[in-house]
Amino acid sequence: MRELIAGNWKMNMTRKEIDSFFEEFLRMVPYLPNEREVAIIPPFVYIPYVSEKLKGTTINYGAQNLFYEEKGAFTGEVSAEMLKDLGCTYVIIGHSERRKYFCETDETVNRKIKAALGKGLTPIVCVGETLEERESGKTFEIIEGQIRKGLDGVELSEPERLVIAYEPVWAIGTGKTATPQQAEEVHAFIRKLLKEKFGEISKDIRILYGGSVKPENAAGLMEMENINGALVGGASLDPVSFYRIIRYDSGG
Ligand code: 13P
Repeated sequence: MRELIAGNWKMNMTRKEIDSFFEEFLRMVPYLPNEREVAIIPPFVYIPYVSEKLKGTTINYGAQNLFYEEKGAFTGEVSAEMLKDLGCTYVIIGHSERRKYFCETDETVNRKIKAALGKGLTPIVCVGETLEERESGKTFEIIEGQIRKGLDGVELSEPERLVIAYEPVWAIGTGKTATPQQAEEVHAFIRKLLKEKFGEISKDIRILYGGSVKPENAAGLMEMENINGALVGGASLDPVSFYRIIRYDSGG
């Protein structure tokens, strides 16, 4: 299975900052390992700008959200078809920041996943528990609910067409990473749920870890059996850090 390292830029970067990111990052691109897939996920408005920068490379790109309706009077929203039209490969769905600040629920997540798949986009579906939920022993229950409801009625023919990201909320932007063992425990549980739902192909569905991934902790996480890549926030804004995470096994 090809590991995926995706950089979620969140609400960061301007054109000037994107220029300086790529000035440095593109110099390192020839040294990226072929066996690893890389994607950059900028804010909507910069997708065309980033796609221009990535021309001639094998790096993919995507969006941080979409709306599930096809088209029409939905001011401020962006459809799956529009993202496909811009050449996006991926779309993040159900990020915990969207669940927390923008009323995203397992039901909207479910509709968005179907809209993405329907237009040929690969959803990166985020799940994860809060600190309170972890401390009260509810981690597995929460993850199970998010996976089951999020994927309800979703059909999958090829495992590459779906990516799951386990992002414990308490590890996002806090500098606190889950230990490789803590993450693997949840990843293995997600794999089991995927197997119940999709059968044999589930062994090839990529499950990414996200939450304070840094060059220093990437290798330990990525060597776990069910961790198949990373969804990187803060560290993906810096070209050197992002590059070193992608090359986690070669000492940067
Ligand atoms: P940080 O890497 O900044 O903790 O963010 C993780 C994340 O939310 C990626 O989607």
